Amino acid sequence: APVSPTGRTEREHLFGGDPRAQAGEHLTTSQGLRLSDTDHSLKAGPRGPSLLEDHHLREKITHFDHERIPERVVHARGAAAHGTFVAYGNAASATKAKFLAEKGHKTDVFVRFSTVLGSRGSADTVRDTRGFATKFYTDEGTFDLVGNNIPVFFIQDGIKFPDIIHAGKPHPDREIPQAQSAHDTFWDFVSLHTEATHHVFWNMSDRGIPRSYRTMEGFGVHTFRLENADGETCLAKFHWKPIAGVHSLVWEEAQIAAGVDPDFHRRDMADAIEAGAYFEYELGLQLLPDSPDETFQGIDLLDPTKFVPEELAPVQRVGKLTLDRNPTNYFAETEQVAFHLGNLVPGIQVTNDPLLQARLFSYLDTQLTRLGGPNFPQLPINRPHTEVNDNLRDGMHQTAVHRGQAPYLPNSIDGGGPFTTDGYVEVPREVAGPKVRENPASFDDHFSQAALFYHSLSPVEQVHVTEAFTFELGKCYEQAIKERELQVLAKIDATLCQTVAAGLGLPAPKDEPVTHGPVSPALSQIPPGPGPIT
Ligand code: HEM
Repeated sequence: APVSPTGRTEREHLFGGDPRAQAGEHLTTSQGLRLSDTDHSLKAGPRGPSLLEDHHLREKITHFDHERIPERVVHARGAAAHGTFVAYGNAASATKAKFLAEKGHKTDVFVRFSTVLGSRGSADTVRDTRGFATKFYTDEGTFDLVGNNIPVFFIQDGIKFPDIIHAGKPHPDREIPQAQSAHDTFWDFVSLHTEATHHVFWNMSDRGIPRSYRTMEGFGVHTFRLENADGETCLAKFHWKPIAGVHSLVWEEAQIAAGVDPDFHRRDMADAIEAGAYFEYELGLQLLPDSPDETFQGIDLLDPTKFVPEELAPVQRVGKLTLDRNPTNYFAETEQVAFHLGNLVPGIQVTNDPLLQARLFSYLDTQLTRLGGPNFPQLPINRPHTEVNDNLRDGMHQTAVHRGQAPYLPNSIDGGGPFTTDGYVEVPREVAGPKVRENPASFDDHFSQAALFYHSLSPVEQVHVTEAFTFELGKCYEQAIKERELQVLAKIDATLCQTVAAGLGLPAPKDEPVTHGPVSPALSQIPPGPGPIT
């Protein structure tokens, strides 16, 4: 019904002439006033000065002045693509999440790849960890799998995240370097904080310089808890397996590409998708028993510096992801997308991994600043592809026009609900223990899995790791830091340590015992995992 004095409907009144559309025939101000000149400011005579009353000048410049939003505090440089995920249907015995459990179920996705430490304008092929963040717009709500291309992390507890990032980001005085590698603060931190060793070895391996996003694995890193339709639970690790296989650059290629084409990876993805050569990955699950101690074959599943070798628990492929559409607007999609580990769907739950627990806080918190207040879920790229009735109101940048009274529950006036029986319910798990700032003793082994990883590499890959350590440590100014990292290398492999030491012109540490800790005994002694999904 017409409600406005001009006889327009309420909707037309509110949204007619939507300034966001920029689709009108004439150039106007943001208020719809048609302009006759946008090339000259209003001046007192042709030689000026410019007049303060020129609203068009001030509006145009003011809006331009505020075009940028803060870049992400980490993972600032990214490129993204849209696509579809199709479930194979074999995951139903593990999870009731419909987008995984129902054979042939199709889900829209948006994936953002990133480097961690460089700024928005940094080069793609630097040695760094890569982000692999996937937004599944499922019928049951949005599920975000916010992973990396490396299966373990530098730290066991999220409280250390500001420390590792401060140590890795560019020096505050000179703003160099852009990459993780090659500076004293990074190597100082990781040589003192040796739980980082496993992740550092992956960084120094060829995994640190992927050839293309389409040849990169992805990992959810943490252990998640899955629940099936019968209420049975298991623990699980998420994996992305690229159909094109895993391929890396060699260091010389990475360096040349960084100079010749700093956009190497984003150009590769955009060009390939435009040409119809889509990026494809399979989603895999490692399923592990939901044991009371949350360990598997001696590996503490709450420790994000540990992985579960595939020889112990096979990665079972449960669906296929195809990235087949480039964003139309980098800012609206790639820059404004907001991932969050708390975006879960029924059948997928979090565990007590202390890194995961801190992440559950951090992403929403940072996005409140980065995206200007609490209404960023309304941005087109962040909107769920399902019905939303969240009772949230008002706030900075609210674009919805809500009707009626502010919602509250319980409410005898206009009801609310109804609640469904298939809503999200946390699996009840016992929580007990003294309030302490401590890790379990099982977190103390910092070296055995780094050694396992290093010794799993082929000889040429081991040479690459050796050269990477030599190159990166060679950039440190402080000899004491190089010497401390050599002591870490001695715990992993004596030859590696000696070769890097020789490359640095330093003596190898003497008589350092090689200790691989109690975790991850020889693979041959370990029985296989729980077997295929049935
Ligand atoms: C951003 C992965 C640990 C805080 C990201 C992004 C990825 C990622 C992929 C980029 C998201 C995007 O494309 O927009 C990971 C992984 C981690 C980890 C795999 C460990 C397993 C942490 C921890 C914290 C943290 C421990 C803090 C306690 C952040 C923040 C952002 C971010 C603040 C920026 C988010 C934004 O501005 O939208 N992380 N991260 N991350 N991460 Fe993490």
